[in-house]
Amino acid sequence: MERTFLAVKPDGVQRSLVGEIISRYEAKGFTLVGLKLMQVSRELAEQHYGEHKERPFFPGLVDFITSGPVVAMVWEGKGVVAAARKVIGSTNPLESDPGTIRGDFGVDIGRNIIHGSDAVETAQREIDLWFKSEELAAWEPTLTQWIY
Ligand code: TYD
Ligand code: MG
Repeated sequence: MERTFLAVKPDGVQRSLVGEIISRYEAKGFTLVGLKLMQVSRELAEQHYGEHKERPFFPGLVDFITSGPVVAMVWEGKGVVAAARKVIGSTNPLESDPGTIRGDFGVDIGRNIIHGSDAVETAQREIDLWFKSEELAAWEPTLTQWIY
């Protein structure tokens, strides 16, 4: 079954959107297999956003993601990588459709509430970077037969 990495960024945690965000993925039918609240080190932030190392916004992005606790999560389900990105919306909240997390709750690209892996291979890399294998639970909700 496909897995993705999602993280509620410091702005989402400070604005008390953690429950709202988790509810959206639960209601959709995805399964939570990993969850932790954590303070992100600069080293982890720089590795996570390594693809953007040369971009002008990189230092500010690392400052932001390390500025307060983050809720790191792994979600599992059919097509979860692409579907989770749809639920998140576009990178710039002002361009995100209403109904998406960024479209409903944000206005600034530097405060866009949530991260989601952009492809299956990226998801695997990010899950390995953020979680130890023993922190992930392999379980099947008993109501799965009503989702699949
Ligand atoms: P990116 O991977 O392009 O977006 P996404 O989070 O949708 O995958 O960029 C990573 C983060 O960097 C993005 O969520 C917010 C920040 N960012 C800026 O602050 N300014 C920018 O111009 C871009 C492109 C991103
Ligand atoms: Mg990205």
